Amino acid sequence: MKVEFEMDRSTLLRKNEHWKIGNLGIMQIQHDYPGELLDTIKRKALVIKEQQSANMHLNLRFIRNAQKYIPEIAEVVHYPGRLEGLSELAGEELEPYPFTVISTAITFMGPEDGTVDWHGDGPPITELVALEHEGVTGGRLELYQDDFESTMAAVQAGETLDPDRVLHIQHKVGSSMFGQLMRVPHRTEPMTSGTRITLTMNLRSVEKPFMDSNPMHYLAADNPDFEWVDEYVDDVRYRQLPAYLKYRESL
Ligand SMILES: [Fe+2]
Repeated sequence: MKVEFEMDRSTLLRKNEHWKIGNLGIMQIQHDYPGELLDTIKRKALVIKEQQSANMHLNLRFIRNAQKYIPEIAEVVHYPGRLEGLSELAGEELEPYPFTVISTAITFMGPEDGTVDWHGDGPPITELVALEHEGVTGGRLELYQDDFESTMAAVQAGETLDPDRVLHIQHKVGSSMFGQLMRVPHRTEPMTSGTRITLTMNLRSVEKPFMDSNPMHYLAADNPDFEWVDEYVDDVRYRQLPAYLKYRESL
């Protein structure tokens, strides 16, 4: 795992925060996941794309609950040394994000599939592994270096964002983006050509699993069947609440 680019969270948001996991902002890292394994995942994703992926909101077309359809994804999630390496980079122990519907996903982007609009992530931390990046014009990860609320208000009002504060990072096969993107304004730069397929693997803090930006309405927007509710409530009861009470005592 070699870090190719990094910007910490306080620099990214231009302020210091109390509610965060380590000071992880955004990194681009060279990963060591086997190319053959990633190719298998891509091939299987393309086979089920029409049937399983949907562009429900935010102009983002993705396969939810991806590891249910493509079990090889679990091999990447638990790839030897992965969690240890990412935890070290984040400065806190991390674990895979537990809710099956959004633990992992495959996203498809392009002129027809769409590119995700300005948003902040539900899961606190994510790793985005490029599976395909062919003939892409545009398509960079764009992060806006400012406070989430004021940026989203400016976007909604149709204001032009200051180009000097937009950070661009180009996805590439062989590397991944690793970032704490809850309450960080970001999007994919619109694409005029090419295809991008990305494996998204979400993570959270072991010690502070309550640091999360995925309220039930946000999860339900992509998963309106509510089949995930028991899993979610159990997690709040047995993991998030005890951890939160312990955290409060430590303040
Ligand atoms: Fe995102």
